[in-house]
This record gives sequence, C-alpha cells and structure tokens, in this order.
Amino acid sequence: MYVGAGSMAEGMIAGMQASDRLQNEQIHVTNRSNAKRLLELEDRYGITAIPREKVDWHSMDVIILAMKPKDMTAALIDLQEKVQKGQLILSVAAGIQNEQIEHYLPDNQPVVRIMPNTSSTIGESATAIAPGKHISADQLALVKELVRTFGEAFVIDEEQMDVFTGMAGSGPAYFYKLLEHFEETGVAAGFDRETARKIGTRTMLGAARMLLETTEGPSVLRKKVTSPNGTTAAGLEALNEAGAGEAMAEAILSAAARSNEISEELKKQLLAR
Ligand SMILES: NC(=O)c1ccc[n+]([C@@H]2O[C@H](COP(=O)([O-])OP(=O)(O)OC[C@H]3O[C@@H](n4cnc5c(N)ncnc54)[C@H](OP(=O)(O)O)[C@@H]3O)[C@@H](O)[C@H]2O)c1
Repeated sequence: MYVGAGSMAEGMIAGMQASDRLQNEQIHVTNRSNAKRLLELEDRYGITAIPREKVDWHSMDVIILAMKPKDMTAALIDLQEKVQKGQLILSVAAGIQNEQIEHYLPDNQPVVRIMPNTSSTIGESATAIAPGKHISADQLALVKELVRTFGEAFVIDEEQMDVFTGMAGSGPAYFYKLLEHFEETGVAAGFDRETARKIGTRTMLGAARMLLETTEGPSVLRKKVTSPNGTTAAGLEALNEAGAGEAMAEAILSAAARSNEISEELKKQLLAR
C-alpha cells in the first residue's frame, strides 16, 4: 500500500507493475487529497487507487510511506491508530531515520528505510535497504523481494544511508551531466545532437553492461582498452589532468554531506513537535 502518490511512488509502481513478480491488484495507492492523481495512476498502471478515508489498513501487508519528509509527521500521527501490530512499514523519505518513524508508531513496529533512485521506473534502480530495530529475517527477505521488482537491492547500515544517497540517489544526475558534456563535444565536432546523444548513451550502456556481465572490475576493463601511447591513453591522461576522479569523489561526498545536513535539520524539526 503506497501512502503518497507522487513521482517516487509512481517510479516504483511502474517498475513493480512491469515485473512479473506482483499482480497489479496487489498494488494499492492512496494520497492526501488529490483524487485526479489517484485516477491517473489507476488508469495508467491498472493498480488499485483508494481515497485515504476508505483504505482498509488491516488488509495491507506492507505500508510504503512515500510522502515528502516535511509531511511525514502528520502522516505518522494519522497512521498511529491504524497500523496493525507487526505490519511492515517502509519509508522512502530521504533524511528521516528509522528511529524517528518508530517513535510515532506503536512499540516494536517493524520499520525499514529504503532509498530508490529514479531508474526504478524502468526496473533499474540501485536501492538501499536500511532495516530498523524490529525487523525479522522474514520481513527483510520480503523487503528485498519487493525492492527487486524495480531493480537491485543493497542491504546497508543506516549510517551508510547518506553516502549511499550521494552515490546512487544522486548518481543518475552525475552520469546525465557527463553525457551532456559528451553530447556537446560531439555536436561541436559536427555530429547532429541526436546522433551525438546516442553515441554517448550506447557507449555508457555498453560499458555498464560489460561490468555487469563479465567478472572483471572497471580498472581491468579500462587497462584492456588502453594501449600504450594510443588514443584511449591520451583521453585518460586528459581526464586525469582535469581531475575527473577527484571530481567524482567530491560529488559523492558533497551530496552525502548535504544529505546528512538535511537529516539533522529534519531531526530537529521532528523533535520540536
Ligand atoms: N524523487 C527521487 O528521486 C527520490 C529518491 C528517493 C527518495 N525520494 C523520497 O520520495 C518521497 C516522495 O517524493 P516525491 O517527489 O514523490 O513527492 P511528491 O511528488 O510531492 O508526492 C508526495 C505525495 O505524498 C502525498 N501525501 C502527503 N501527505 C500525505 C499524507 N498525510 N497521507 C497520504 N499521502 C500524503 C501527496 O498527496 P497529495 O498530492 O494528495 O497532497 C503526494 O501524493 C520523498 O520523501 C523523497 O525524499 C525521492
């Protein structure tokens, strides 16, 4: 049961719906008040959309909290009386810790944070799973199964969530940014934009699939395509001189630091209520 019908919920629903592991009817969604949006999701994915006041909370195996972090407290207060003992609660909200969610729910409620990225839409999200204190092994297995309907699951400690966010949550944007430069360089050299974009995308996809489908790591594959004094060596030297490796590390760590900052701000706001 998705509580929240925004873009992240839709991304996960699209991935889930396209996988053959769940029936559409098993996927339910509600929101705060936007009835038009619920109908839209129902039409688009054949899932069951229900206005909040009509949800039969008892019958839901899993409740997925997919509202903005700022709306979480109100949603949890509303859910306090509705959740069932042992009912599994998943949260996708960035920056809100398991403990803060557990605080608003009955004692020992099983809570798990997950961090998908936007590639969930095509079933290719790298998604973190950070279990709370009260999760059983069976419940963790169920969360993994759910997450795998829209990509690959990585079980992490909650302390690693900020850096995971810097890597995988924000990661698609880094690669889009690289491809923007790739495309511009191709266009400047005379390719039409569409061709330049396809060359970049195919090259990146091919490299990613080589990594997934061979057992070799990136440095081995890189060395294999780099002949001494050849074209790739010249390209890599330029990348090194421009500090590309350091820039990637900086990007991940800066995003992780911002994630931590947001998390601390949210903690203060939640504690103040
Ligand atoms: N976008 C990403 O790449 C990404 C990645 C990982 C995690 N996330 C997390 O995903 C969450 C959702 O983000 P989003 O971009 O999908 O937000 P969004 O598009 O603004 O959607 C939020 C949804 O939550 C609903 N909602 C708010 N309060 C509610 C309540 N009390 N009860 C039921 N539904 C309620 C809203 O309903 P109404 O429209 O009816 O008000 C709306 O459907 C955020 O916490 C974000 O941190 C996002």
